[in-house]
This record gives sequence, C-alpha cells and structure tokens, in this order.
Amino acid sequence: MAEPIRIIGVVGAGVMGRGIAHLMARGGRQTFLFDMMPGMAAKAKATILAELEQRVARGKAEITELKTCGENIVVVGDLAEFAQCELVIEAIIETRDAKTDLFRNLETICSATCILATNTSSLSVTEIADALQYRERFAGLHFFNPATVMKLVEVVSGSATADATRARLDTLATDLGKTPVEVRDSPGFLVNRCARPFYGEALRMLEEGVAAAATIDACLKSMGGFPLGPFELIDLVGVDINLNATRSIWRAFGRPPRFKPSAILEQLVAEGRLGRKSGTGFFVYPRGPVEQIAINDCNPEIFQRVGAMLVNEAAFAFEEKLASAEAINTAVKLGLNFKQGPRDLARSIGIPTIIDTLKRCALTDTSGRYVISGSLADFAG
Ligand SMILES: NC(=O)c1ccc[n+]([C@@H]2O[C@H](COP(=O)([O-])OP(=O)(O)OC[C@H]3O[C@@H](n4cnc5c(N)ncnc54)[C@H](O)[C@@H]3O)[C@@H](O)[C@H]2O)c1
Repeated sequence: MAEPIRIIGVVGAGVMGRGIAHLMARGGRQTFLFDMMPGMAAKAKATILAELEQRVARGKAEITELKTCGENIVVVGDLAEFAQCELVIEAIIETRDAKTDLFRNLETICSATCILATNTSSLSVTEIADALQYRERFAGLHFFNPATVMKLVEVVSGSATADATRARLDTLATDLGKTPVEVRDSPGFLVNRCARPFYGEALRMLEEGVAAAATIDACLKSMGGFPLGPFELIDLVGVDINLNATRSIWRAFGRPPRFKPSAILEQLVAEGRLGRKSGTGFFVYPRGPVEQIAINDCNPEIFQRVGAMLVNEAAFAFEEKLASAEAINTAVKLGLNFKQGPRDLARSIGIPTIIDTLKRCALTDTSGRYVISGSLADFAG
C-alpha cells in the first residue's frame, strides 16, 4: 500500500491550478496555492468558494464541500511555504524553461521525498526531469479540464520516475475519485495523441469534399455515439488551440504525414476564425438548429474512416508500449468523453474492415498517412 499524500502544493492558479486545488481540498488534503501574479491565488480561492456557494444554493453540492475547501486551501505569497508539502503539482505557463526554473527552485525548498509533478500537456516529462537533482520523484500528473469533473488522470513516467512515485500518485488519484492511467512519457501522452485522428480524418474528408462539416459531425454522433462532432469540438476548444496541439505532436514525432496539420485549420486561424470565442470557426455563433442524421441516412465511410484512424493510432501507441491496450481504451474514453474507446471501436468495427478502409484510403493518398500499425490485432485482443 503506497504511503498516502496529505499535504499538497499547487503552483499556478489559472484554469487548471484552480481546478486541481479545488479537487485536492475537496478530498481533504491541505492545499497550499501559489501564483507568481500577486492576488491571483487569492482570487482563485474566492472563485472556488463563490462557485461552490452557488452550487450549494442550487442543491448541486454539499455545504461540507464548501467548508472543507474554505479550510483546506491556503493561499501563500511565497513558495518557501511549500517546505512541508508531500507533493507539489505545477500548473504554470507551458514553457520548458519556466517549468525547469520552478522545479529547480522547489528542489531547494521541499524535502528530497516530496513528489514533484507537472501538469504539462505537451512538454516531455523526461526532459524537465533531466534538469533536476532527484529525478526519481518526478512525474507527470496530467489532469483534464475541468479537473474537478473529468475522471481521467494520466500518470506519466519519465525515464527515471520510480515505481513508488507512480504508486503514490495512483493512490492519491484513486482516493480523489479519479481513474489514473499510467503512461510512458511520449508526445501528447495518450489522450491528446490518440485524439488527433478524430479531428484529422474529419478535416481530410472535408478537404476531399466527402461531406460538409455539419454532416460529418452529425454522422459521427449518430453512428459512433460521439457526444460532439469533431468540428463542433474544435470550435468549442478553439481552432488555434487545436492547430497548436496538432503541430506540436506532428513536430515531436518528426512530422509524419498522419499528424500533418490540415490547411483548413491554418486558413481559419489566419482569418481569425477561432471558433466560438471569436464568433465564427467552422460554424457561425450563435448557431442555429444543429443537423441530425439518422444512422441509416449516414454515409458509412465517414464513421469507418474516423474509426479506423482512431484505432490505428491507438494501436501505434500500444505497439510503442506507452500503456496496456485496456489503459489506452480507458484513457481515450474518459479523456474525450467518448462512448467507446479505441479498443471498443476495434472490436465493434472489426479489424478486417479497419484494414480495408486504411488500404482503400492509401490508394488515393500515397504519402504514408494511412500506414497500418502491425499491432492492430494484438491491440484489439
Ligand atoms: N487548460 C487546459 O485545458 C489544460 C489541460 C491540461 C493541462 N494543461 C496545462 O496546465 C498548465 C496550466 O494551464 P492553464 O490553462 O491553467 O494556464 P493559465 O494561463 O490559466 O494559468 C497559468 C497560471 O500560472 C501562473 N504562472 C505562470 N508562470 C508562473 C511561475 N513561474 N510561477 C508561478 N505561477 C506562474 C500565471 O500567473 C497563471 O495564473 C499548462 O502547462 C497547460 O499546458 C492545461
């Protein structure tokens, strides 16, 4: 049984840090919260409590959660107050230099047994650890937004992360009601990488004129049970954010054709059509009635191509031993709120259909985009 973690420090009180602090405090952990911007951590605590008050008033949260969070979140104005922490979670700006500077500083403040964890989405856990003195107690702890709601936590091991570090983080996440999935450090970890084909293949079909964006969305929701279509989701999160995430993974893997960012995304960003936040992206907001298409009226190619590419990418991640097939399935399902994970899709679509679909696509695109993973059958199990 891994040693429990009771005292936690959270650095960065933005969107993620605030959610993580709320989650920890709600789970009974004393949670120190620091942000380099004066007043930011206090504002984050006030926001957590104000939102909770409203939820309590509407009967959506218990008064005890409000009380516990009020008591457990301690706003600090100096990182030196993290000295007694057993775990520090970093949720600051996404640059390697800022993160390594912070962790080097934390090494001078915290005990040698305190676990240091980064919530990075796109940087290498191993590379951040390489700048540190005690690399075995360093790991990635990747939460999804909103951290209080999303069940998944990716527990990311760098090349030196100790089993005991991983085990303690797994235990903490489980205690907090989360589902931890252990993953080896690799660009985009599991979810952000395995999600790429959901957008990428939909974008490719739009480029090819297979169907309009609204039709592709409607068919995927209808045939695959996806809660949102890829274009709705890109507009919701931000076209620029999606492009940056795609670019970062494409570059990190050495620019393979299957991750190549779509020219459509580049064009939308150049035109300032960033999705909901700018009033227009793939759709114009406020949006009128959203198209719905019955399964029988859908072009089956739309679901087959997206499904085949989702399964293929997950099989590559499995082949690279990032995680077990079941862990990949769970991570993608929970991280993206999909009804079926890629292993479920592999089984429901069937490996022969997946291979046929990829081979058919490769007849017209010979760039290597549709290269087939040699582990499809093993992944499907
Ligand atoms: N937003 C998401 O959906 C999401 C999801 C998973 C992971 N992440 C990752 O979480 C991290 C934080 O993202 P966010 O969306 O919360 O960002 P954010 O911009 O909302 O918040 C970052 C906060 O960190 C503070 N900060 C910056 N540098 C600091 C430093 N050196 N010391 C202390 N505080 C500092 C800023 O003042 C700001 O309040 C990033 O690494 C991001 O990649 C984000």
